[in-house]
Amino acid sequence: MLETVKLSKTFKEKKAVEEIELYLHAGESVGLLGPNGAGKSTTISMISSLMKPTSGDVKLDGKSIIKNPSEIRKVLGVVPQEIALYEELSAYENLKFFGKIYHVAKEVLENRIQEVLEMVGLKDRQKELVKTFSGGMKRRVNIAAALLHKPKILILDEPTVGIDPQSRNHILETVRKLNEMHGTTILYTSHYMKEVEQLCNRVYIMDHGRVVASGTKTELLSILSTEDTIQIQLSKKSDSLLNTIKAIEHVRRVDETTQGIRIISKKGSNILSDLVHAAEKEGIQIIHFQMEVPSLEDVFLHLTGKTLRD
Ligand SMILES: Nc1ncnc2c1ncn2[C@@H]1O[C@H](COP(=O)(O)OP(=O)(O)O)[C@@H](O)[C@H]1O
Ligand SMILES: [Mg+2]
Repeated sequence: MLETVKLSKTFKEKKAVEEIELYLHAGESVGLLGPNGAGKSTTISMISSLMKPTSGDVKLDGKSIIKNPSEIRKVLGVVPQEIALYEELSAYENLKFFGKIYHVAKEVLENRIQEVLEMVGLKDRQKELVKTFSGGMKRRVNIAAALLHKPKILILDEPTVGIDPQSRNHILETVRKLNEMHGTTILYTSHYMKEVEQLCNRVYIMDHGRVVASGTKTELLSILSTEDTIQIQLSKKSDSLLNTIKAIEHVRRVDETTQGIRIISKKGSNILSDLVHAAEKEGIQIIHFQMEVPSLEDVFLHLTGKTLRD
């Protein structure tokens, strides 16, 4: 549906975005993750035709939108990182204003405003001035504005940064509903790995203007390791048990730790029954067993050397 081809942007000497290639299939929910300055917002600006690329292309259904931006504006809703609302107007008046900008037909605008207010949970606050709203409520008005023209694709640029938990949950729920119930295609930019894990089928990880990894959560996790790490706590220490465990097939390493022992085995090899069996034979109980599952946060750290919440 939407695709970028070697999309690049250079500001003076600074290469903000370098040959980014990403695609969105209709109905997908895709995450765009990256630390500050990675080039996420610049990429979004070029996709939404607010900024001209230095080189490369953005294609909608196979056709370049660089020379014909009106096509993409019809199908795309963008929730920018910076909140752009008229503080002295009410939520309703802001939406009316945005409706006109987006050329929503007069006859349907009133209904659409009420529909989108309902979606973001602000229907009963619509008469109130935006300047009295919390950051989270303002962000929800912004999302409502982006939805007025019923976009097929919705791009959100870090929509939950710095807002209250209630608004945050509301936003996540709204995005999920749009994707699952209305079939809206989503590109969701965030610092928060957990949100992306919840909402997205696929993820692109950006750093220094480039895509450093992409794929489903499972695919990304497989980058990190070919091994499983298991921690066990035993009822007592035993060197002979340690040796028996070392001899189990697929076990690569066994180390004593302060909590017990750490076993590294080949990814996906199920050594649990062998482990239980070995302990039983020695008359030792396994008090605690834990698989250490690497998270996307670990993958991110591995690829970029940074944590996401920097
Ligand atoms: N208008 C601009 N002029 C000069 N440099 C810019 C401009 N916009 C962004 N940059 C630079 O490009 C890089 C990427 O920025 P941005 O796309 O905002 O990253 P992100 O959204 O991932 O935090 C940063 O180094 C930023 O300083
Ligand atoms: Mg940004």
